[in-house]
Amino acid sequence: MQNPSKKYQPFQHAPKLADRQWPARTLTHAPIWCSVDLRDGNQALAVPMNVSQKLELFQTLVKTGFKEIEVGFPSASNTEFTFNRRLIEENRAPDDVWLQVLVQAREDLIERTVESLVGAKKAIIHLYNSTSPAQRRVVFQKSKKEIIEVAVRGAQWIKDRLPRLKGTEVMLQYSPESFSATEVEFAKEISEAVMDVWQPTPQRKMILNLPDTVEVAMPNIYADQIEWMCRNIKNRDSLIISLHTHNDRCTGVAATELGMLAGADRVEGTLFGNGERTGNLDIVTVALNLFMHGIDPKLDFSNLNSLIEVYERCTGMTVPPRQPYAGELVFTAFSGSHQDAIKKGLAEQKAGKQKSWDVPYLTIDPADIGREYREVIRVNSQSGKGGVAYLLENEFGILLPKDMQREFGPIANDEVDKLGREVSGAELKQMFWREYVERHSPWQLKSFETESKNGIVKCKAKLSRDGKPVEISGEGNGPLAALVHGFSQIGIPKFEITNYSEHALGSGEAAAAIAYIQIKTSDGKSKWGAGVDTNIELASVRAVLSALNRLE
Ligand code: KIV
Ligand code: ZN
Repeated sequence: MQNPSKKYQPFQHAPKLADRQWPARTLTHAPIWCSVDLRDGNQALAVPMNVSQKLELFQTLVKTGFKEIEVGFPSASNTEFTFNRRLIEENRAPDDVWLQVLVQAREDLIERTVESLVGAKKAIIHLYNSTSPAQRRVVFQKSKKEIIEVAVRGAQWIKDRLPRLKGTEVMLQYSPESFSATEVEFAKEISEAVMDVWQPTPQRKMILNLPDTVEVAMPNIYADQIEWMCRNIKNRDSLIISLHTHNDRCTGVAATELGMLAGADRVEGTLFGNGERTGNLDIVTVALNLFMHGIDPKLDFSNLNSLIEVYERCTGMTVPPRQPYAGELVFTAFSGSHQDAIKKGLAEQKAGKQKSWDVPYLTIDPADIGREYREVIRVNSQSGKGGVAYLLENEFGILLPKDMQREFGPIANDEVDKLGREVSGAELKQMFWREYVERHSPWQLKSFETESKNGIVKCKAKLSRDGKPVEISGEGNGPLAALVHGFSQIGIPKFEITNYSEHALGSGEAAAAIAYIQIKTSDGKSKWGAGVDTNIELASVRAVLSALNRLE
């Protein structure tokens, strides 16, 4: 890979646009969306979809809210033709949905394409030919003039056949394929030549689709190209300017967003970016990017998981775990500091303290796209106490006091580290139980009785220490004070209770309670303990013994 300048050169076709306007603009509304899943996406599949898979994906796209769907290349194969016929004859497209079909500038193909559309309610006929210097030189060996003639002939053949589509509302679309690698002056010239044939008006517009067929430059260059076209092409108000980006440099989304700022009205793309090579534009990402800025994307991704399920089944593709918004790990935090921040952010949000969504590390509320909060935090060796506490609370209703979280967090982390993998909430609970609730040695409780007179509580506790029976009795202003007093009578190091909390585990009369107690010895050692019992008094006695056992 030495000296790339010998083999590669900087991008050659950036338009001169010193007074570009797009950088100062912001997006305020959704574009017209067109899904090309069933055409561009489909043609890039190792095993293209069969008719029933295409039908299922079509229904799903309609349900998601797409009003323009490129359904295929009907002149390319019988499957494609049949699919289009079934959509029309079985009346599968709602009245407000346009069926878009792609065709090259060849008369036989145009003939078959028009035939495939007879009876449709709304149809977009999409004509394309390639315009970049490399395509003109390598593929077609034609001059600019000849390339324009190809487009104009194609446009005329389509126009001649429009009377055959009586009863169908037809919209015409032209794409100078490889637009982003084409000189803008030539892209304008060829597009205007097609406009001269189709004669669009502000009332009957045509779509001019300007594809980034192969991403060859940075997204700001594409934006300049789009703004240049919007400003220089004739009769702009008779055109719907459309974007169609691919993702070769991994900036398909950025190019589309900047292209929208630059004046485009319409966006073509696919679900999750399926498409040739590195894919088409991922419409889900652009739509949800708008959504996270409070702009209605006019597409419904409120059940993204079910969309992923249909997409994966129909296309045989998989959505990667880190795919924006859709990936399995997108709403999962592994690092402890992230988990802590998310936990605090979600709590603040729940308390209604913020008017709009502003949770660290979560760009949107996962619930808005059908994800569950429970998926937000998982625990591995990189996690901190926040994640541990979050899982115990959310999955089991165990509310560890803050200070106890600081004690248990590192203990859990050590165990997770030894396991060398992520752990579930159930495993964390087991660790907690082993560490605190099931600490029955050396001290074990046999029975605990109290009686109260004139505000003084007396207790009698039957215990065992290393299996040998020990009885203690004491008194104080409550059962725990009496127990501590009892212990002080039998010569073990003095301790006091420095922290106490308890709550029910679950609901109903038979529900157990859990008590958390922190003790501190006279020589400054402090430990937490936890006890569970259906009787809250016994739960706290058990918690004291748990803390004492953990001291030893
Ligand atoms: O990527 C592309 O240029 C295309 C055209 C047919 C619009 O898919
Ligand atoms: Zn494409």
